Amino acid sequence: MKLAASVLSADFSKLGDQVKLVDQAGVDYIHIDVIDGKFAPNITFGMPVIEAIRKVTDKPLDVHLMIEEPYRYLQEFKEAGADIVTVHAEACTHLHRTITRIRELDMKAGVALNPATSVSILNYIFDDIDLALVMSVNPGFSGQTFIPSVIDKIKRIHKIAEDKGLVNLDIEVDGGITLSNISSVIDAGANVIVSGASIFKGEPDKNVKEFLKKMK
Ligand code: DX5
Ligand code: ZN
Repeated sequence: MKLAASVLSADFSKLGDQVKLVDQAGVDYIHIDVIDGKFAPNITFGMPVIEAIRKVTDKPLDVHLMIEEPYRYLQEFKEAGADIVTVHAEACTHLHRTITRIRELDMKAGVALNPATSVSILNYIFDDIDLALVMSVNPGFSGQTFIPSVIDKIKRIHKIAEDKGLVNLDIEVDGGITLSNISSVIDAGANVIVSGASIFKGEPDKNVKEFLKKMK
């Protein structure tokens, strides 16, 4: 089980300190949401911010790209310090080429699915990815409400992974995760849990500890 803190909910006026705080409290990944204002309705941050975060933590940087045709920027994300790069299936004309390139660059390759996207889009690439990211909100913003129908999607991916013997496939869930619903996604088969607002609202270090307790 891994916990990823989404910095989209952090206080950007002290981003370095916020990252250090959740790092020391025990999160496994720093989750970085890059949004281009086209694929999803928000504009967040890019390479300079990732480079800055890279300097203050040794935790893996889990970079979630909500941008059109991310293939164009993969090399730059690598150079900025990304360890895991997740692209949206809906944003790539050549999804297989994109994930192959991520792995060639020596990063872990993830594919994210919007709430309305079927698991079948992964059918021919299951063997070529390290991570499937199930979006439990529509991409764009932190602090949205969890969409319960994704529980079934997590279960389906978990079953496929079991049937295919993909023991190393991570199943990540992202959006609206709270201390009240985290158990339902873990029971369904998710092993990487992203949280933004529920970690950074109030006292991030205490919130991380509460999350980690629930994940034992
Ligand atoms: C949404 C992002 C999420 C978001 C999660 O587009 O991908 O990572 O920051 O934040 P919460 O946990 O607040 O929904
Ligand atoms: Zn995300």
